[in-house]
Amino acid sequence: MAEARWERGYERLLARVDATGASVREGFPHYGDPLTGEWTRSPSGDWTGGFWNGMCWLAAHSTEKARYRGWALRWAEALLPRAMSDTVFRGFLFYYGALLGDVLLGDARAREIALAGARAWAASFNEKAGVFGLGAEAEEASDVGAGEASIDTVQGAALLVWAAANGGDSAWRDMAISHARRHVELCVRDDGSICQSASFDSTTGAMTRRYTHKGIRPDSTWARAQAWGIVGYAVMYQWTKEIEFLDAAQFAAQWWLGHVAGDRVAYWDFDDPDIPDTARDTSATAIVAAALLKLAALTGEEHKQRQYRVAAEETAAALVDRYLDPRGVLSHGCYNRRIGLATQNELIWGSYYLFEALHVLTGRLEPARF
Ligand code: GLY
Repeated sequence: MAEARWERGYERLLARVDATGASVREGFPHYGDPLTGEWTRSPSGDWTGGFWNGMCWLAAHSTEKARYRGWALRWAEALLPRAMSDTVFRGFLFYYGALLGDVLLGDARAREIALAGARAWAASFNEKAGVFGLGAEAEEASDVGAGEASIDTVQGAALLVWAAANGGDSAWRDMAISHARRHVELCVRDDGSICQSASFDSTTGAMTRRYTHKGIRPDSTWARAQAWGIVGYAVMYQWTKEIEFLDAAQFAAQWWLGHVAGDRVAYWDFDDPDIPDTARDTSATAIVAAALLKLAALTGEEHKQRQYRVAAEETAAALVDRYLDPRGVLSHGCYNRRIGLATQNELIWGSYYLFEALHVLTGRLEPARF
């Protein structure tokens, strides 16, 4: 039964990759209208462009069909100019957009592009603070200052760990570890919940405040902050084997499991007083499904392996059964509720993480390969 569900979900998302690849020629799929299936595109990939390539790399890996590899490479080339963008989200862009091509297919051009993104991003490290700040061109940077950090940048640091071992500078690994380590202090609260963002003094690195761009309040828990923290630390542990990152991922995962709605699909902010009459966020939920599968493979403790695997399966099942339609459109992602942007939509990163999780659940991908 479960196998049929995973296979159905995988086939639906693969069909969505086909439809998107055939129809989108310019700009990267960013968020979709769940009724028409039409994508709003970002001309140069915003912070999300790599997730589309990532879906193509996964499809190329699991089907061995040349057209997916061709699309992934074409879109990786389109991302290459972003190596010079002043944004911390070069991590997301070049990890999913290019590194996956090397890890999954040994693609030499993908490797060059991933290294170019890593090299340029590494040059922006703030030595004093021990972090990569958001950067002037980052998604959230327009309304804040120079010393800004966000939990959604931890996962991308793994690009530098990979790059340090694949032709880059060995110092990049240390930068990545420092970046991730400092975000525990900046964003992870004492109870394991996560605050999206923090400001720091860019000359001393001292934290000056915690706040949120997309959550309901600075002291609330925005679902995607929690989700980005779980996957960020799981991925950083996978690449570094630094135990503190496994601990951070598990701490945040336990908080999620203790607070998520009974049907496993998160509301957009855990502290919205209107719950249950408010928006869900299937993208945060999909990130966590993929991350729990990684944690189940990474933890050495048997009871946790079981707990994470069962929770991952229940989470993925809720998404496949209730939110993934026959076209492969994953509805009810909530991009930015504060400004009313795409609050019940298909979001490219949500689709990516559900596709990744379904690759694992159908046995097409090892859970902690990247
Ligand atoms: N900036 C990442 C997010 O909106 O989840």
